[in-house]
Amino acid sequence: KKAKLTVDRDFSKAKLDERIYGSFIEHLGRAVYGGIYQPGHPSADEEGFRKDVINLVKALNVSVVRYPGGNFVSSYRWEDGIGPVSQRPKRLDLAWKSLETNEVGVHEFAHWCKKAGTQAMMSLNLGTRGVAEACDLLEYCNHPSGTYLSDLRIKNGEKEPFGFRLWCLGNEMDGPWQIGHKTMDEYGRLASETGRAMKVIDPSIELVACGSSNLLMPTFPQWEATVLEHAYDEVDYISLHQYYGNKDNDSEDFLALSDDMDQFIRSVIAACDFVKAKKRSRKYINLSFDEWNVWFHSGEQDKDTIENHPWQQAPALLEDIYTFEDALLVGLMLITLMKHGDRVKIACMAQLVNVIAPIMAEKDGGAWCQTIFYPFMHASVFGRGTVLEPVLVSDCHDTSHHEDVTDVEAVALYHEEAGEITVFAVNRNLSDDVEFTMDLRGFSPVIFLEHIVMENENLKAVNGPDNPQVTPAVRRDVDNDHGKAVCLLKRASWNVFRFQ
Ligand code: AHR
Repeated sequence: KKAKLTVDRDFSKAKLDERIYGSFIEHLGRAVYGGIYQPGHPSADEEGFRKDVINLVKALNVSVVRYPGGNFVSSYRWEDGIGPVSQRPKRLDLAWKSLETNEVGVHEFAHWCKKAGTQAMMSLNLGTRGVAEACDLLEYCNHPSGTYLSDLRIKNGEKEPFGFRLWCLGNEMDGPWQIGHKTMDEYGRLASETGRAMKVIDPSIELVACGSSNLLMPTFPQWEATVLEHAYDEVDYISLHQYYGNKDNDSEDFLALSDDMDQFIRSVIAACDFVKAKKRSRKYINLSFDEWNVWFHSGEQDKDTIENHPWQQAPALLEDIYTFEDALLVGLMLITLMKHGDRVKIACMAQLVNVIAPIMAEKDGGAWCQTIFYPFMHASVFGRGTVLEPVLVSDCHDTSHHEDVTDVEAVALYHEEAGEITVFAVNRNLSDDVEFTMDLRGFSPVIFLEHIVMENENLKAVNGPDNPQVTPAVRRDVDNDHGKAVCLLKRASWNVFRFQ
């Protein structure tokens, strides 16, 4: 079996926006309480933030973190999370049938972002609330001073504005499960009016309109076209969300799902550009893939908790334990996002801690890395710079629901400042190793630095707090002849090749 990736220094696809290495913290389960925040834990700092978690977030090099939801945001009152903590109200969280104590709010999250070296991507409640409350929150956060809300922020301890640049206009408003769910026309109008008013308050912000909650939504892609027909001039990005699972235990087909993600992205680009043409607009709407991951392991247990044991404070929800094959699909999804770097400018792996997360935080123990931590970290650390136009020729296979699935998926980036070329490649053929050639044209000389690899005989291997079974290894097994490099990719493997 063979595959070949050819790239040329002069053929660049896009300067990659580092915001594609974003993540997500929702008030859900133990993401906030018991995740990033746990006063009394041995690693908690003076504000109650877990330093062990912060250290792993820093290792992941996360560029933006979406907050506070997710479904949670659609019935959230941001005012509950400001002022003295002892006076903050407890509320019902209607999305996850949990009890919200509001100990963490916008101030605490902004402090945490600073400590974790990341930027906030704020989401707004357009489910139970509207234009006025969105404007209030923006004024509270970004207006310097001299108004009731900006002075209230100052009174609450924050002299300088938070200066949040990126705002999501609601969450999954196409989904019937969403509190305050809307039709595409209702939502399009609301997004347009909210965006217009917000940009009066702060013209420097960027706005993300809700696209479809997944590729199979019955309203996709009419939803995107209609929403943008209403809100094209006010918004900058349209969102995409997609989670995958291997419920039928069909691993070959599971690893082909990144091809569906690719198709989803292409279709949303087409919808954006259809509206662009219709409006005779010079402006492009780009894509914010602000929820993506594997999510299916915890389903039954979550259903039981939500239906039969509601209104708990920070119950264990969506605590998927990820396998080796999940890490391979995450790697494939990352490659897909990088390949679309010309239009996908923001992406958030959902989520970050405890809830469908790369990082787990034990209540009475330390923090540890799930299998999916590693491909994300490699991509985020080494996948910077310019995405090179990839020409990939690979043997293919069919799976139960996909045809002509390439054995190898790959992409290459050139990081100008570091003078480094990085190739990411997954061999998703589960039976055969593949001879992989990387033809790196126009770079000279090309020195091979290292080959980082994740492989495992057991597709279902998982990590835990002790004795992780799935971790990367470093190899020097590449035959490099002046930028024509050859390596055998093990069946079912994630590979990172670094050259200088
Ligand atoms: O990330 C978990 C949930 O998935 C989010 O709250 C929601 O937006 C999506 O359906």
